[in-house]
Amino acid sequence: SKILSVVGARPQFIKAFPVSAALREQHEEVLVHTGQHYDESMSGVFFDELDIPKPDYNLGVGSGPHALQTAEMMQKLDAVMEDEDPDIVLVYGDTNSTLAGALVASKRRPLVAHVEAGLRSYNWEMPEEVNRVLTDHCSDMLFAPSESAALTLESEGVTDGVYVTGDVQYDAILKSRATAREHSTVLEDLGLRDGEYVLATVHRANNTDDRERLENIVSGLSSAGKPVVFPIHPRTEKALKDADLWTRVVEDEHLLVVEPVGYLDFVRLLDGAERVATDSGGVQKEAFYLDKRCVTLRDETEWVETVDAGWNTLVGADPLAMERALQSTDSLPEKPSLYGDGTAATRIVQAIAEFEDE
Ligand code: UD1
Ligand code: UDP
Repeated sequence: SKILSVVGARPQFIKAFPVSAALREQHEEVLVHTGQHYDESMSGVFFDELDIPKPDYNLGVGSGPHALQTAEMMQKLDAVMEDEDPDIVLVYGDTNSTLAGALVASKRRPLVAHVEAGLRSYNWEMPEEVNRVLTDHCSDMLFAPSESAALTLESEGVTDGVYVTGDVQYDAILKSRATAREHSTVLEDLGLRDGEYVLATVHRANNTDDRERLENIVSGLSSAGKPVVFPIHPRTEKALKDADLWTRVVEDEHLLVVEPVGYLDFVRLLDGAERVATDSGGVQKEAFYLDKRCVTLRDETEWVETVDAGWNTLVGADPLAMERALQSTDSLPEKPSLYGDGTAATRIVQAIAEFEDE
């Protein structure tokens, strides 16, 4: 079949890395980059260092308010789908690029396939929640990372075309851990030692766009009792500057602020971290895959299994809860296997074949 895959934001390049490789063994793939992320450190670096094919199209949409950004993606994707006439449109995760691809395709009627289906935070104020619910409900094939994600879909009446495949980000990290250890020099470059620092990321809109939450997060991170390496998302840099917190963060002796890093450096930083503090969806799982405790700077998560397993603690933006969780020495429970076995990409290709045979 001819599959048109839509990517646009950092986590989608990483998800496409194992999936594109598996798809291309059996299908023709057209890769479309919406241009939602465009900085070299948010986009180019992933195509350079990972084995992801160069996009056939870059729509150059860039940043903007939700409706304008999504609408521009939709117009441009419609033209590409008109020219390419794909059999399947594949979308990843929960960004505006995901929703734009799914909506355009569901009107034009190629099949819509959603990687990372069935996740819910049940917080309708998150733009991602809107994107994932709507995308799931207009998808023909839904690739769920866990049984519980499939059950969530069932509870919403979505049962046809649901396949539990495991998480493609687990595939990605298994493919990269050894390479990262061998080739990344990020620890030496930053003067960090294995097991002696916390790795932190922050970019969720409700954390960056609320001055009080942002300030509390900065205070909480600073109280980890260890150096905190903090690769900073451009949204967060901008928010810290707008809130007059930038100088404080850069000058804080406990925080090591760096530009966003490439995937191999990020995997190396994860692998060497004593623990992780994040509001990212992907990073919560990656911490778990690499046996790190995660302190999640949110009030709820869609990756609930990691919390239930005792490996992830939700602390919101409460500095005292952050300090406690960042310094906790409680022993960790045994680690269950939660999101498949690292062969999600192959399972997705098999599921597509099964669906097409029916
Ligand atoms: C987006 C996704 C979010 C995902 C995140 C991954 C939506 C609604 N949000 O959030 O789900 O977790 O990507 O990182 O789709 N910017 C730059 N350079 C870039 C990209 C962004 O400077 O290359 C700045 C711009 O000021 C922009 C802001 O970051 O306005 C936000 O970018 P945007 O893509 O709208 O949302 P993210 O916060 O990145
Ligand atoms: N990541 C990276 N460099 C960084 C921060 C994150 O390569 O400086 C990777 C990380 O390994 C994960 C993905 O980006 O696979 C997560 O993206 P992000 O946190 O931006 O988005 P989310 O998962 O919250 O949608």
